Amino acid sequence: MTDQQIREVMLARFGEVFAGQGDAEIFFAPGRVNLIGEHTDYNGGHVFPCALTIGTYGAVRKRTDRTCRFYSMNFEQVGVIEVSLDEALKPVKERDWANYPLGILWAFGERGMKPETGFDLLLYGNIPNGSGLSSSASVEVLTGYILRELYGFSDVTNQDLALIGQYSENHFNGVNCGIMDQFAIAMGKKDHAIFLDTATLEYRYAPLKLEGAKIVIACSNKKRGLGDSKYNERRAECETALKELQELVDIQSLGELDEATFEKICTRIVDPVRRKRARHAVYENQRTIQAQEALENGNVKLFGQLMNASHESLRDDYEVTGIELDTLVEEAWKVPGVIGSRMTGAGFGGCTVSIVREDAIEHFIEQVGMAYEKKIGYAADFYVVEIGDGPHR
Ligand code: GLA
Repeated sequence: MTDQQIREVMLARFGEVFAGQGDAEIFFAPGRVNLIGEHTDYNGGHVFPCALTIGTYGAVRKRTDRTCRFYSMNFEQVGVIEVSLDEALKPVKERDWANYPLGILWAFGERGMKPETGFDLLLYGNIPNGSGLSSSASVEVLTGYILRELYGFSDVTNQDLALIGQYSENHFNGVNCGIMDQFAIAMGKKDHAIFLDTATLEYRYAPLKLEGAKIVIACSNKKRGLGDSKYNERRAECETALKELQELVDIQSLGELDEATFEKICTRIVDPVRRKRARHAVYENQRTIQAQEALENGNVKLFGQLMNASHESLRDDYEVTGIELDTLVEEAWKVPGVIGSRMTGAGFGGCTVSIVREDAIEHFIEQVGMAYEKKIGYAADFYVVEIGDGPHR
């Protein structure tokens, strides 16, 4: 659907669900894809994501009373969720997806920003759910953006929207995520990737000069499932490894180490599995720094090689890939014209990201798609994506 079609469909549904579509306005926040720098954002390392042109649309209208109503066209079965601004907000299982926008309302309140009147909000997203392209962070940033625009909280910067999103996901929704997703979405810039140092939040926009190649996302259609608990487990492993290393060196995060220093001291991490986890965090961060330089120098080939090495490290040391993502990536590596391919996001299912020469894309989709279905038993979906801007009206 084009933007115009989405607009018409949403306003029509808004009218049916909430009665009277008159003055509803439509806002948008993107999804994101991470090019490289995986599982580094909670280790004080670098990430290199970009915002997509697919994402979440919100049709919203202010109300005159203290009621807020939420409806998602992606979860029609959940129906309308109604909440009063006078209740003390906490996550409620039956509110399902609406716990994400509600978390943002709560987090704004925690910062003393409380809307006087409620609103009706209808969402429609074209990011595949649970695909690792950050549909939840997209909803968070969208909600924050809407609250800022609708209620005049004009001191809130886009970077604040990212921090509020992460705070709400950590403390309201109980997912211990890093800052990457919300930052990439809130700060997105058309045709640019964001090179972010998660230790300081210093960032730089890097023009995506891919020399006749495009970004292709392959969705494994394997949902993350147990992902969240495994995600928290990896975080805990890295935290313990850091504590062990801190007995030897004065560091605040694994991101402060280069490969050579790590190799010298790594046997202090007693458990070999935990040592592998830390190894990934250290090497992946260094790879991300190199990848950003490679892109800046127009060395797309090196960029691709670093993406491939990132996948191997996520497969062997961090162990967050699984047969679905490994199949997609290993089949991609076989196709001529593929510059680099790796899993993206948290892992355990979700998507891969590949840089593919334009003239090879058709063959890539056919070849990888066929091999995947043969081995896994169901089909993958492919998206040739464009890099877009952050949230907007
Ligand atoms: C998820 C989290 C991010 C990041 C990635 C892994 O997307 O939300 O903060 O940790 O996984 O790189």
